[in-house]
Amino acid sequence: MSSSKLVAFILGAGTHIGSAVAAQLREKGYRVALGSRNPKPISDDDAYLSVKVDVQKRESIEEAFDTVLQKLGPVNVVIYNAASVAPPPTPDDLLTIPVEAYYDAASVGLGAFTAAQKALPSFRNEIHREHPKAFIVTGNILPFSQYSPPAYHTLGLQKALQTRFIATAAKSYESENFQFYFATLVSKEGGIPGPAVFASSAETHAQVYWNLINNAKQEDWDHRYEFVIFLFDICSIHLLFFFRFTIDGNKFPVEAEKL
Ligand SMILES: NC(=O)c1ccc[n+]([C@@H]2O[C@H](COP(=O)([O-])OP(=O)(O)OC[C@H]3O[C@@H](n4cnc5c(N)ncnc54)[C@H](OP(=O)(O)O)[C@@H]3O)[C@@H](O)[C@H]2O)c1
Repeated sequence: MSSSKLVAFILGAGTHIGSAVAAQLREKGYRVALGSRNPKPISDDDAYLSVKVDVQKRESIEEAFDTVLQKLGPVNVVIYNAASVAPPPTPDDLLTIPVEAYYDAASVGLGAFTAAQKALPSFRNEIHREHPKAFIVTGNILPFSQYSPPAYHTLGLQKALQTRFIATAAKSYESENFQFYFATLVSKEGGIPGPAVFASSAETHAQVYWNLINNAKQEDWDHRYEFVIFLFDICSIHLLFFFRFTIDGNKFPVEAEKL
C-alpha cells in the first residue's frame, strides 16, 4: 500500500462522477476509498480501497469511516455523491410515495451529517495540518426552489437537507479552514443539465472538485458550474447511445461492462 497521507473517501462511488474524481485524486497522489452498497473488487491498484457502505444507514456510514481510518488512515477529503429518487407509483400523486421510501430518501440526505461528523476528527488530525480539508456533496438545483415535480420530490428533499447542513458547516468550520461545498453542474441557462450533458460531464466534475479541494479558503458553499468539454467527454458523448440514464444516476450506466 502506498505511503501517501492524502486520503479521500467517496461515498456513492460509481462509474461516472466517482470514477473520474477517484482517478483525478489518485493521479495527484491520494489514496482513495470507493464506497457503495455493492462495491466492485479492485485488483492491482493499491491506491484504491473498496468499501461497502449504505448511506441510508447511519451505522453503515460510521463503520465505513472506521474501516477507511484503519486501512488508509485519516481522511482529508470526503465526496458525498450518493443519491436516490423514489417517484410516486401514481405519477403526480405525491402522497402515493410509500412512507418507507420517503424516510429512506431523507436518510440519504441526513447521511451527509453523519459522514461529516465522522470525518471531523480526521480533518483535525495533526497528519493533515498542511493538507487541504474538504467535504463536497454532489448537488443539483432542486433544493433552490421550494417546489419540485412530484417525480423528483424525494431527491429534492435529500438535497435540501444537505444544503441546510453544508451552508451552516461552511461557516462553522471556516476558522479551521475545513471547507464544505454543495457542487452543482448546471446548464448554460442555470437549470438542470440535459441527460447528454450530464452523462458526458465526468471530467468536468473531476476538475471542479479538484479545484474546490484546493481552494485556499472557503468560497461560496453553493458552487455551480457548467459543463466543459474534455477529450474524454467527446468519447463519452458517443458512448451515451449505449447507456441508460436516470437523474439520480442509479441506473447509469448499467450496460457499460458489456461494451
Ligand atoms: N447536476 C444535476 O442536475 C445532476 C444530474 C444527475 C445526477 N446528479 C447527481 O450526481 C450524483 C450521482 O452521479 P453519478 O453519475 O456519479 O452516479 P453513479 O455513477 O450511478 O454513482 C452513484 C453510485 O452511488 C451508489 N449508491 C446509490 N445509493 C447508495 C447508497 N444508499 N449508499 C451507498 N452508495 C449508494 C451506487 O452504487 P451501489 O448501487 O453499489 O450502491 C452508484 O454506483 C448524485 O448525487 C446525483 O444527485 C446531479
